[in-house]
Amino acid sequence: MADLSINFAGIKAPNPFWLASAPPTNSGYQIMKAFEAGWGGAVWKTLGVPVINVSSRYGSINYRDTRMMGFNNIELITDRPLADNLREIEEVKKYFPDHAVIASIMVESKKEWHQIVKDVENAGADGIELNFGCPHGMCERGMGSAVGQEPDVLKLIVEWVKEAASTPVITKLSPNISHIIDPGMAAVQGGTDAISLINTIKSIIGIDLDSYAPYPVVDGKGSNGGYCGPAVKPIAMHMLKDLAQHPEISKVPISGIGGIETWRDVVEFILLGATSIQVCTAVMHYGFGIVREMEAGLRQFMDDKGYNTIYDFAGKALPNITEWKHLNLKHKVIAEIDKNTCIGCDLCYIACEDGAHQAIALSGDVSNRIPNIIEENCVGCNLCSLVCPVENCITMVKKDDGTESISWEERTLNDDVPVTFNDDRAGGKGHFVPKPTDALKAKTNS
Ligand SMILES: Cc1cc2nc3c(=O)[nH]c(=O)nc-3n(C[C@H](O)[C@H](O)[C@H](O)COP(=O)(O)O)c2cc1C
Ligand code: SF4
Ligand code: SF4
Repeated sequence: MADLSINFAGIKAPNPFWLASAPPTNSGYQIMKAFEAGWGGAVWKTLGVPVINVSSRYGSINYRDTRMMGFNNIELITDRPLADNLREIEEVKKYFPDHAVIASIMVESKKEWHQIVKDVENAGADGIELNFGCPHGMCERGMGSAVGQEPDVLKLIVEWVKEAASTPVITKLSPNISHIIDPGMAAVQGGTDAISLINTIKSIIGIDLDSYAPYPVVDGKGSNGGYCGPAVKPIAMHMLKDLAQHPEISKVPISGIGGIETWRDVVEFILLGATSIQVCTAVMHYGFGIVREMEAGLRQFMDDKGYNTIYDFAGKALPNITEWKHLNLKHKVIAEIDKNTCIGCDLCYIACEDGAHQAIALSGDVSNRIPNIIEENCVGCNLCSLVCPVENCITMVKKDDGTESISWEERTLNDDVPVTFNDDRAGGKGHFVPKPTDALKAKTNS
């Protein structure tokens, strides 16, 4: 049976499933309940000088029938006194000595950083996470993402913390920056033992059409919030990949955060180099019990593939993620419709006709709504298979024989790329497009 235990920069945990610093880790009660449910670690709701929060605090994007596809908050760090939190950290560690309890911290001055590091370590925290991510409220006070966006300041604070810390230090990065390598490098140069990312993305989730204020509305006004949940997973994975591929930054372990909800999400983050994962929104939505599906799915995946520990496959996707210029321009796929499973909804036809390359034809017979691919027009863009509501009804079939390969970079070196506006070497040269006036005929016929 697979061994799910981890040693993350010296922090040991029975499994890689950690709660992210957020409302689910606000108290010892919640964290004990989570550990009982199966979570291997928890990053305590950020500790510092306690705040005063507003009401309400959350907003969401409900996309079609999916609630909280994206989630947004204007909550700050903990509003509970430090002494209460420290007492509860001590208690949790008494009951769960083998689980990871990490104290997230955020303060201002060097003296405060030194003091709070000592306080949380004395309470028994196994590690420290530095919150340089909060994109609302705290950044206005020179903390949170205000630090995450300033690599020099970030490095200085990591150095301060490392002066005082005897447990491992995880630097949590903000995604509100165009080049994640800069804060990542600053954290490593400051001596961080590990990195975690992402914190929330600065955002406006929506506008109330009566008060004209952004959600969540606080007495007729609103503020930008931090975006998270399933919608941010692709952004988080891209930033994780950037860090995990970097020769210097990848020397420290990375905890992946952002939109993780299922075992598959967990596996994807591990394949991109994360060796622990953290979850907030999915737990706020469905509760601590989701860890059971995560664990069962991860175990099944590892058994199927023959992996004993997560380190056997951590980062395995990284060599396959390259720059566009290295992709094989000779690789050719086209769409194929499985006529046995097609339900004749014609969504693929509309998508290809109006949004792609006019490569799907209807039969013209109202009693037969199953469309046909016009192979010579199909560029293999994939849109039809993405819109098709029937799983695997449209597949992309390989048409090249795999013997030829040339990339944009190689073509550039061979001096064989389009360089003029009407260059014959353009990819779309000679490719079928209907005459503009055929659009009018289509309207007349309909
Ligand atoms: C309501 C709320 C409060 C949060 N509070 C904190 C916090 O105190 N400290 C922190 O580092 N991150 C905080 N976060 C960010 C989460 O830890 C996490 O980085 C982010 O939500 C992305 O993960 P997710 O997509 O699983 O939610 C908060 C997120 C939410 C939704
Ligand atoms: S792959 Fe693209 S071009 Fe080909 S049929 Fe589908 S939508 Fe049209
Ligand atoms: S979208 Fe899928 S199910 Fe609908 S007509 Fe096209 S192939 Fe058939």
